[in-house]
Amino acid sequence: MNALTAVKQPDEALTHTITGFRIAPSVQSPRLLELTFSADVTQQFLREVEQWPIQALEYKSFLRFRVAKILDDLCGNQLQPLLLNTILSRSEGALLIDAEGVDNVAQADEMVKIATAVAHLIGRSNYDAMSGQYYARFTVKNVDNSDSYLRQPHRVLELHNDGTFVDEVTDYVLMMKIDEQNMQGGNSLLLHLDDWESLEKFFSHPLARRPLRWTAPPSKNVAQDVFHPVFDVDQQGRPVMRYIDQFVQPKDFEEGVWLSELSDALESSKHIISIPVPVGKFLLINNMFWLHGRDRFTPHPDLRRELMRQRGYISYATSHYQTHQ
Ligand SMILES: [Fe+2]
Repeated sequence: MNALTAVKQPDEALTHTITGFRIAPSVQSPRLLELTFSADVTQQFLREVEQWPIQALEYKSFLRFRVAKILDDLCGNQLQPLLLNTILSRSEGALLIDAEGVDNVAQADEMVKIATAVAHLIGRSNYDAMSGQYYARFTVKNVDNSDSYLRQPHRVLELHNDGTFVDEVTDYVLMMKIDEQNMQGGNSLLLHLDDWESLEKFFSHPLARRPLRWTAPPSKNVAQDVFHPVFDVDQQGRPVMRYIDQFVQPKDFEEGVWLSELSDALESSKHIISIPVPVGKFLLINNMFWLHGRDRFTPHPDLRRELMRQRGYISYATSHYQTHQ
């Protein structure tokens, strides 16, 4: 267990217990809630979905919703409204989710099933071109030859939104820790847009709404460039963001200098929160108003980390954002 999580636990007085799970604000931020499925519900869920191997969920999309319903039914149908309210709430929009008793890489398939159920209670996970599935599992090792910073361990992965180089709505990002060996550091870094000191400065700049060009490196298996601005607004006129430093292609000096200043302003924010995500837990964030990144690791020759991600749209939110095509 990570030393930080052993010391810091959510305040019991703020914890609400609902059928099958409990929920409390995290110690790092009241915007990030911690949701924990009880061992009983976790075991019952895994028993009921045992008949479907992961391959069945890959081949038949509707089964992802079937397993979602099974989990919600076990939680007295209180889970789906709570997840939707939280992920859509501008003042929150982030959860760290845990299922008791699922904390070992030997249970990787079970982890994918739990994450799939949660994601498909709020929406649907997009096709992930990197894996060719609706989810992607990938490893980070001490030596890396990849073509982006995603899998490079010894440096910070800067704050960004996901889905910036695809023409698909990416309302949510789900990031799960499947395995960790010889790992020190590497916390998830999160910044809520409304906590960013420089939001007004960059959001009100003329370049904020200019469509820029975004391209992906070869490993992403996305050949086409897309064009969109860094900022947009939701239906209430509040800023939303689609930004990543590695894949934006400024066309000239003006755009390049502005983007470089924006990057510095994000990375130097005092309101970035640092979240340890132990094996078996996952973060679920609203990708429109939360930025995410990853802290550096301490080098170790046998360092190994395996992650699983899902990105997709929230069924009841798609019309909320003008950026959505
Ligand atoms: Fe990301």
